[in-house]
Amino acid sequence: CGIVAYIGNKQAFPIIISGLKRLEYRGYDSAGIALFNEGVKVYKCKGKVSDLEVHTTGEDVSGTLGIGHTRWATHGEPNDVNAHPHTSQRGYVTLIHNGIIENYGELRRKLERRGYEFKSETDTEVLVNLIEYIYLKGDVSCEIAVRLALSKVIGAFGLAIIFNEDPDLLIGARRGSPLVIGVGNKEYFLASDATPIIEHTNSVIFMNDDDVAVIRRGELTLKTIDNNLLEPEIQTIDLDIEEIEKGGFDHFMLKEIFEQPRSIKDTFRGRLSADLNDIHLGGLYSVLPRLVEAKRIILIGCGTSWHAALLGEYLIEELARIPVEVEYASEFRYRNPVIYPDDVVIAISQSGETADTLAAIKLAKSRGAMVLGICNVVGSSIPRETHAGVYTHAGPEIGVASTKAFTAQVTVLTMIAILLGKHRKTVTNELATTLINELGSIPAKIERILESNSKIEAIARLFKDSTNFLYLGRGYFFPVALEGALKLKEISYIHAEGYPAAEMKHGPIALIDDKMPVVVIAAKDSSYDKVVSNIQEVKARKGIVIAIVSEGDTTIKGMADYTIEIPEVHETMEGLLAVVPLQLLSYHIALMRGCNVDQPRNLAKSVTVE
Ligand code: G6P
Repeated sequence: CGIVAYIGNKQAFPIIISGLKRLEYRGYDSAGIALFNEGVKVYKCKGKVSDLEVHTTGEDVSGTLGIGHTRWATHGEPNDVNAHPHTSQRGYVTLIHNGIIENYGELRRKLERRGYEFKSETDTEVLVNLIEYIYLKGDVSCEIAVRLALSKVIGAFGLAIIFNEDPDLLIGARRGSPLVIGVGNKEYFLASDATPIIEHTNSVIFMNDDDVAVIRRGELTLKTIDNNLLEPEIQTIDLDIEEIEKGGFDHFMLKEIFEQPRSIKDTFRGRLSADLNDIHLGGLYSVLPRLVEAKRIILIGCGTSWHAALLGEYLIEELARIPVEVEYASEFRYRNPVIYPDDVVIAISQSGETADTLAAIKLAKSRGAMVLGICNVVGSSIPRETHAGVYTHAGPEIGVASTKAFTAQVTVLTMIAILLGKHRKTVTNELATTLINELGSIPAKIERILESNSKIEAIARLFKDSTNFLYLGRGYFFPVALEGALKLKEISYIHAEGYPAAEMKHGPIALIDDKMPVVVIAAKDSSYDKVVSNIQEVKARKGIVIAIVSEGDTTIKGMADYTIEIPEVHETMEGLLAVVPLQLLSYHIALMRGCNVDQPRNLAKSVTVE
């Protein structure tokens, strides 16, 4: 979900609406806004921010203090009642809440006993009434009521709160769910991330867990829930507004796919030594000795980041000869994992906010492991929670289906594998130079793949009505097959499965008939001949083969129904290339099916619930 709030001299409505549009990728089930203008007025509705704009047409939306929300439903289905903001029963408090209040049932029963009635199914309604209850009963200030209420809450929250009796007060609070304060000229912003803020100011404060921001018109006080004053640490961010706009592309996803030559360059810029012999990852210097000596590396992540982790396993085991395990953060954290002090856990996350990944990090830390992060969003929670890490520097990723963040993560993992290999002497200087050279060649090679866009679009047209897809690959191409299938199902709602090519004969082969498109990633690598056999197995059952092949391959061209070429590169980096045509294939298919590519149904970009 996304929060935007404003207090200052300008009209809040247009600032909040445009901010919500920038955050809409975080959730888009419903949207709402509350404005202070002789008391608090609330407008909210099911649907997108544009629906909210329609909903407020002709209404009085003036006011220089306001809070806005775009929601991804957790408690309660998306509808007008469950949309935020929520106002307390007697109208004193109005707030927006991201996150989940775990003890809301218990708090709700207590409030019911004191005469409160609840209109919605949300935990948020409980919180807003709890604040009001304390405010009225305790006869305390708004700020104290908020802090007292939050001290009773178990769970996660990012909050923006306003009060019917105070036209000059905006309160923000965070635990678990991100919140950034924008510091302008006699004006302040609150938002879930910096993207809605940067068009107004580049001075921001990243709030920490249990921080409360008390913003009186023109004046900010930062404190903890326990009332300890904090010194706000104002940082300057250099996000470019163009980076978060579509820049001539029809969709963010397409823009982000096409950005990959540049974003990968940004990922390795300044990190490959001039003599192409070494890797510099400044964020890992302090922990390098322990990392090099690790007995085991555990890579954790969710969704696409988990697929990057799988590629990381192949890379690190191959080049650094350290055993690697890959875990879904959500499984790892709940199953009492065995963690040794000489294990190193590396968490991978685009947003740096995924709740399960964050919780897994805390667990690993509590068991004495060193925990590192590979994240894209600077200043997000995971980089702050980990001992050290590497930013991917791919720039903001807005499309919900991850593309450039994935290739950036894999680029970082490749650099880590080379770095570890060098230190462990499992990678010779000569090999290091080859690999670094090859990594440097990736952007230009992706440019070449992007030239096949219209060919891929033509293939997409032939399969847009398919109901199932199978993706096969071996070695480095197995995670790519998983990622290709995920991209397709996320945005086109076609059922798709990724499989290790050799495993096909243990099950999925039963699905193959003359209607089943099978995408085989069959570029030249050490398992090429085996994959050729797998293609023959598919063809023998009349399956339709779309093969990703190396430039100039004639063998597979003679067997497959359709081929898409990718340039040759060192085997360890082929995944970085092979995923690109699959991103484009899913994009075009989704578009032809009339799906909302950037905001697929039911999904959210940043999943801050467990
Ligand atoms: C959500 C997004 C995915 C993403 C996953 C993990 O499901 O829709 O695109 O891969 O979360 O997110 P993270 O920010 O931790 O990489």
